[in-house]
Amino acid sequence: MYGNDYADPDDPGAGPLNAADGGAVEAAAAHVDRRAELDLTTFDAVIAADQRIEPRDAMPEDYRQTLIRQIAQHAHSEIIGMQPEGNWITRAPSLRRKAILIAKVQDEAGHGLYLYSAAETLGIDRSELLDRLHAGKQKYSSIFNYPTLTWADCGAIGWLVDGAAIMNQVPLCRCSYGPYARAMIRTCKEESFHQRQGFELLWELMRGTPEQQAMAQDATNRWWWPALAMFGPRDTGEHAQEGGHTGQSMAWGIKRFSNDDLRQKFVDMTVPQAQRLGVTLPDPDLRWNEERGHYDFGEIDWDEFWRVLRGDGPCNAQRMERRVNSHEQGRWVRDAAAAYAAKQRARHTSDGSEGSAA
Ligand SMILES: [Fe+2]
Ligand SMILES: [Fe+2]
Repeated sequence: MYGNDYADPDDPGAGPLNAADGGAVEAAAAHVDRRAELDLTTFDAVIAADQRIEPRDAMPEDYRQTLIRQIAQHAHSEIIGMQPEGNWITRAPSLRRKAILIAKVQDEAGHGLYLYSAAETLGIDRSELLDRLHAGKQKYSSIFNYPTLTWADCGAIGWLVDGAAIMNQVPLCRCSYGPYARAMIRTCKEESFHQRQGFELLWELMRGTPEQQAMAQDATNRWWWPALAMFGPRDTGEHAQEGGHTGQSMAWGIKRFSNDDLRQKFVDMTVPQAQRLGVTLPDPDLRWNEERGHYDFGEIDWDEFWRVLRGDGPCNAQRMERRVNSHEQGRWVRDAAAAYAAKQRARHTSDGSEGSAA
């Protein structure tokens, strides 16, 4: 009887665990480039035909700037996002957990690199983007300004934060800008592993001692609301104006769903998982709405969201200090790589001139 409500994380009958499980990533990866057979001589025609804009194409300056801002903010979030969990690598409770966590944190560094590379195809240098981050001129996701107080936070981040990230990123696999869309395909596959390892971590804690169960519940309580806020400001109905760029980004095929729609999809997918885990989501207003066919949920604390985004979260200063310090400490690596590249270029140039002389 009791067993009916539980599902093993590896049980295929349990339904998709995250937004990357539904085949949408594979469908985006199978996208066929039909530009050669169609008359797509202008930006508008490419967008209307749901084909990809590539770096060689002419594009409106606003489109280029919007993408630079969005991709940079995304890249910054990936590398700042290494910090909250990196905090637990030395304290992981077993070799298996440590190996999983190291792999996950390393993946986030890789996501940052794919994204900075995608941004560079728009004609901006990654060093310029990092300078903007360090000067506070560009943001990263507000979620990473919350502290990781216990080991269970690593589970809650994987399950909720990576789960929310995938919900956002699966539609980006069909983004109109080719390099961004392609970067998202591999990223989503890796995020799927991140979400699963978080769910499985909490799954084990919830089947452990009362102290472990309390730790999992406490982490869920602290990460649920920031995870919902991750989708960004409301942008539908009477709140349409609060979303800022949503309308234009959807017209350009950068964004495929509103923040509110993605948030609702995330809630609908996550509530049954919480029930299977045995944790309670900290929202007294959360209930199934038969008429809408969706879960209703309570109001997000938007004042807190804007406060944290503006820099007043529990860990903003610490995150930025670590980022700037590690950038400074890595200066010699960048200098050495640049010196090596210059030497290689000089060697090739001299090889080339010898070749043409012969
Ligand atoms: Fe990531
Ligand atoms: Fe991730």
